[in-house]
This record gives sequence, structure tokens and C-alpha cells, in this order.
Amino acid sequence: AIDISKLRDVSGVITLDPGYKNSGACKSEITFLDGELGILRYRGYSIEELADKSHFLEVSYLIIFGELPSAERLTQFENDIRKFTLVNEEMKNIIDGFPKTAHPMGVLSALTSALTAFNPKSVNAENEREMYDAVCKTMGKFLVIATWTYRKSMGYPLNYYDNTIGYVENFMNLMFKLPTGPYAANPIVIDALDKLFILHADHEQNCSTSTVRMVGSSHAGLFASISAGVSALWGPLHGGANQAVLEMLEEIHKSGGDADKYMAKAKDKNDPFRLMGFGHRVYKNFDPRARIIKKAADEVLNTLGVDDPILAIAKKLEEAALVDEYFVSRKLYPNVDFYSGIIYRALGIPTDMFTVMFAIGRLPGWIAQWKEMRENKEPIGRPRQIYVGHPLREYPKS
Ligand code: ACO
Repeated sequence: AIDISKLRDVSGVITLDPGYKNSGACKSEITFLDGELGILRYRGYSIEELADKSHFLEVSYLIIFGELPSAERLTQFENDIRKFTLVNEEMKNIIDGFPKTAHPMGVLSALTSALTAFNPKSVNAENEREMYDAVCKTMGKFLVIATWTYRKSMGYPLNYYDNTIGYVENFMNLMFKLPTGPYAANPIVIDALDKLFILHADHEQNCSTSTVRMVGSSHAGLFASISAGVSALWGPLHGGANQAVLEMLEEIHKSGGDADKYMAKAKDKNDPFRLMGFGHRVYKNFDPRARIIKKAADEVLNTLGVDDPILAIAKKLEEAALVDEYFVSRKLYPNVDFYSGIIYRALGIPTDMFTVMFAIGRLPGWIAQWKEMRENKEPIGRPRQIYVGHPLREYPKS
């Protein structure tokens, strides 16, 4: 018989770090972040300068390939993306299989994975040419299918990419152009969206990006890895927070606008409620993206002349949290998602598309991190655990 008492239940020394709060999983040259000082840089350039001087496709190129492109290189990149914006017509059958009520993030994740079937060469991107094409394909097709999730939910016909206008402008056309007439998005809206996409473009090893790297580390392909990233982003503690912020503000508004009551709920340790859009795993100072976006939100709302009671509630919460002992002592500042939802709402983007907007912005980061992981030939990701279950037991006799 086995002497159970002599069997070991632990093997070797393992560092336990739930949530990977202090564990690095890779070396990366893409994004520098200092949460204590509130610094964010892509490839060495400050987020403030990029948001002010650059635009989304240029920043995407920088993040993915490591350098700002020359004017000719950028034009080439835009043209190469355009070449890949047609989505296989059979993908429409997949979309048609979803109910209209399906959440766009679920549909987006499924469609992204389905791209694998129609673009086999880009799955593993085995040489430089295939990698470049895979980047352009993902940038082109993802934008189109992201907007199709919305068109489907509205029961509208699907739109196609327009080669005569830019990437962000195309996003608005793909979303809102109806067969009944011409459509031209407001340039202020385009500028604001471009900035928002830049601010979301990468954020080093966050939950969805780590997911993309982890899935890719098993040599699963680019589309499958990004599809997993979309699912990770969907959660309300990550990208889903921008939708959750708006829903929370609407709920406060509908229940009479008592922001103090919700502040008290957030502080009550017996209540699971959290003030959505506050706090961040790494920023223990103001999120630098939130500072830029807050300014952009004020500009957009003033220019568009938006007068929204939801915004008054948001301002009240923000001001209250900044002087509240609970929030101050835990360094819980408004994060980027607190303001992005407010801008999206002002721009006419439906609430359940907010996290899709985040995904479009984050796409270059996911691609760059996947590419870096593969080029560095990183090993398969495989964390250990501390087993705390039963020791060996004998099977009960029948
Ligand atoms: N409202 C109320 N209390 C909060 C909040 C909040 N939004 N966030 C954190 N706390 C409290 C926790 O209860 C905890 O209190 P305790 O020390 O008394 O137990 C303390 O602050 C630390 O919180 P943790 O959950 O340990 O912090 P963590 O780093 O694990 O979580 C997170 C960060 C997930 C962002 C958290 O702050 C949160 O849930 N925020 C709301 C959701 C949100 O806005 N997410 C978007 C993140 S940004 C992004 O993905 C782009």
C-alpha cells in the first residue's frame, strides 16, 4: 500500500504572484510606462507629443515597426492597408448566424478568429513579407468587421471601405453611412477619434495584450491570438469599463442623480459595487492618457455644443473622488475609460460599441506585441501554481 504521509504535495520553489502584480513576463521595446510618475511612451516618444502631433496610422506604424515612417513610407502603408480591406463575402454568413442582440465584442472575437480560415498565409507570418502583409491585412480587415458588428445589430446593410478617404474617416463611414444618402463625418469628430485611438494604441503587458502574447506563445496564429485579446478586453475590469462607466452614469441619472450615494456604495466593503472608470493596476498617479482625453472631451463637447446631464454627474464624481480620503489614500484616480465613454457618447457611438472602439485603438499594440514575441522566439507561456487541494486520497471502496 502507498504510504500517503511520505508523498510531497509541493515541488520546488515557486513564486506566487496572483494577478502578476510584480512579475515580468517578457522584455519589450515597445511601450515604456511609469505608473508612479504617470509617464507613457511609445518607442521612446511621449504620449503627449504623439497625441498632439501625430495621427493614428503613423503611430500604428511606429508601434509595430519601431520607427516613425517617412511621408512616402506612410503613404505606402496606408495604400497597403487599403488593399486588404475587402473581407471575404462568406464571412457575412457567419455574421448572419448571430442574433441581432449579440454583444458586438463576442461577434468581433468570433469574426477575427474566422479570418484564419480565409487568410491562411497570414496566420503564422513566417517571413518578413508575410509578416508585413499580415500586419496590413489585420489593420484593414479588423476595422471593417468591427463596424459590421454594429451594422448587424442595427439590421443595416454592411458598408465597404472607401479608398478615397482616410482610415479613421472610413470608420465613421463604415458605421453610419446609409444607402439613402451621402454621409460626411464631422472633422472635429474624426480628430477626436484619431486622438482616442492613439491613446489606446498600446499599454504594455495589460490583460488583453498579455493574452495575445500568451496565446501566440503556443504558436497559435495572429488572428486567433488577437481574437483571444478581444475576449480579454471585453471584461468590465479591463476594456469593458468604458461601457460600464456610461451604464453607471445612466443608472445614477435615472435614480435621481445622487452621486454621493454611489460614492458611499463604492466605499462600502460589503457592497461589491466599484466606481467604474476609477483606479488602475499600474497608474498610482493620474493616468496620463486621462489627462489628454479629459482636455479633448472638454473641447469636443464645447465645439459640438453637447449639453448632457450625464456629464454633470461625471464631473461631480470626479471632483468628489479627488478629495475623498478613501479614493485619495488608495490612489484611485479617473482612468482613460472614465472619459473615453463620455466622448464616444457625445460622438453618437452606441454604448455597446464602446469596447469595440477600444479594440480598434488597441489593435496596433496587439499586433506589435505578437510580432515582437514571435521575432524574439519567446518560449511558450506556462505559469506554475501552488497546489492547495487534497493530498493523495485513496479511491473509496464501493
Ligand atoms: N471603486 C472602489 N474601490 C476601488 C476601486 C473602484 N473603482 N478600484 C479599486 N478599489 C479599491 C479596492 O477595493 C481595494 O481596496 P482595499 O485595499 O480596501 O481592499 C483597493 O482599491 C485596491 O484595489 P485592487 O482591486 O487591489 O486594485 P487592482 O490593481 O487589482 O485593480 C482595477 C485595478 C481592476 C482597475 C480596479 O481599480 C477596478 O476595478 N476599477 C474599476 C474598473 C475600471 O475602471 N477598469 C478599467 C481599468 S483601465 C483599462 O483597462 C484601460
